[in-house]
Amino acid sequence: MPKYLPEPFRIKMVEPIRLIDRPAREQALQAAGYNIFNLRAEDVYIDLMTDSGTGAMSQEQWAAMMMGDESYAGARSYHRLKAVMDEIFGFKYFVPTHQGRAAENILTSVALKPGQYVPSNMHFDTTEGNIRARGGRPTNLVIDAAYHPDQRHPFKGNMDIDKLRAFIQEVGADNIPFGMITITNNAGGGQPVSLENLRAVSATYHEFGIPFFIDACRFAENAYFIQQREEGCANKSTLEIAQETFTLADGATMSAKKDAIVNIGGFLAMNDETLFQNVKNELILREGFPTYGGLAGRDLDAIAVGLKDGLDENYLAYRVAQTAYLGERLLEIGVPIIEPPGAHAIYIDAAKLLPHISQEDLVAQALSVELYREGGIRSVELGTVAFAYEDPDTGQMVYPELDVVRLAIPRRVYTQSHLDYVVETMQRILEHGEQISGYRIVYAPKLLRHFTARFEPL
Ligand code: F0G
Repeated sequence: MPKYLPEPFRIKMVEPIRLIDRPAREQALQAAGYNIFNLRAEDVYIDLMTDSGTGAMSQEQWAAMMMGDESYAGARSYHRLKAVMDEIFGFKYFVPTHQGRAAENILTSVALKPGQYVPSNMHFDTTEGNIRARGGRPTNLVIDAAYHPDQRHPFKGNMDIDKLRAFIQEVGADNIPFGMITITNNAGGGQPVSLENLRAVSATYHEFGIPFFIDACRFAENAYFIQQREEGCANKSTLEIAQETFTLADGATMSAKKDAIVNIGGFLAMNDETLFQNVKNELILREGFPTYGGLAGRDLDAIAVGLKDGLDENYLAYRVAQTAYLGERLLEIGVPIIEPPGAHAIYIDAAKLLPHISQEDLVAQALSVELYREGGIRSVELGTVAFAYEDPDTGQMVYPELDVVRLAIPRRVYTQSHLDYVVETMQRILEHGEQISGYRIVYAPKLLRHFTARFEPL
């Protein structure tokens, strides 16, 4: 039996949840067009759709919210956040944004021209969407191991440096306004990136004069994996590892809804002064004045405390062990997952679990619908629905290499018995797997289609 570390907290406020009966779940699915984004949250029993904005804030965060300074400009809350930003990230400038994709929108709108490329290990959907929305081309250059779910690699989110160098030489550094890396690699299993790889990525971008931006949503979880797994890092604190990570970069985008454990917020940080000027102008147009950027003062205070909460090593040890517990128990009953387990989620290899359903027939969508039908569990499809796209050069559909269903674990929210229930539900699904059918899309927008698409069972 894998180990479940007891929660390093106790519960002092509760939110009731309930399991509606099977006919009601079936009806809810039909009404939702078989898109579980369209379900009412009250009809969901265990909600593992995302770890984003779904965490439980600490008493320190709630207390800090009461201190929020709601001044339009130069609020105390901004300066408290700035002090923490300076300590952890150390970039010369930053602006708050209402969430991560707002930071991506502003960065791409001021720095990216149509036809240009943005390499990364793997872009997440909103980053990819923002780059495409500006006519840019997001390019994924993760190491090959990332595409082999059962290959265990301690840093499976690493970028392939040879591929990166060849790519820059092929398209030309002038066509790459900035390069990125996502820590941890959400689209590829929540897998960490090593410090050694971050150094090599930074050196390669900089050799060609390309600014380096880190998508830092899960930087604390990444730092913890580095401390646990990377040679020479065992004696560094997660704070020191985070600091070292960001000295390698020229800027960062972050959704604070992940490792800053808040319900809303994000930021865009950078060292370049001209870029900062342009970012501020765009921010004022889209988000708000540069010292609040679309957030309330109290939100900035919650982020300031949450960034430190997220780096707490007792919390991170529990967090990583909790996710590993779910992953190892699923493996024990024969559910194929991306191995090893990441920190924020377990990714079920739907294509391997349901080999009778093809990518065209939306295998991962079928599994995610079944998890709700069978147990009221909400997951998220990260496969053909989320990532297939029409190639702008050929007009052909390009399918993703991985068709997975992600079970994301909100921070400090669910307990061991909730995860055991998820395992029991998967066990029942395994027993009738061959009877599950595929789906077809009846409506989908061009970009970020998984959020609003509607489906029909085949
Ligand atoms: N980058 C990564 C790696 C993400 O995982 C996300 C969000 C974003 C950027 C965008 O941030 O949601 O605040 O606008 N991921 C969530 C998820 C939605 O479920 O993984 P956002």
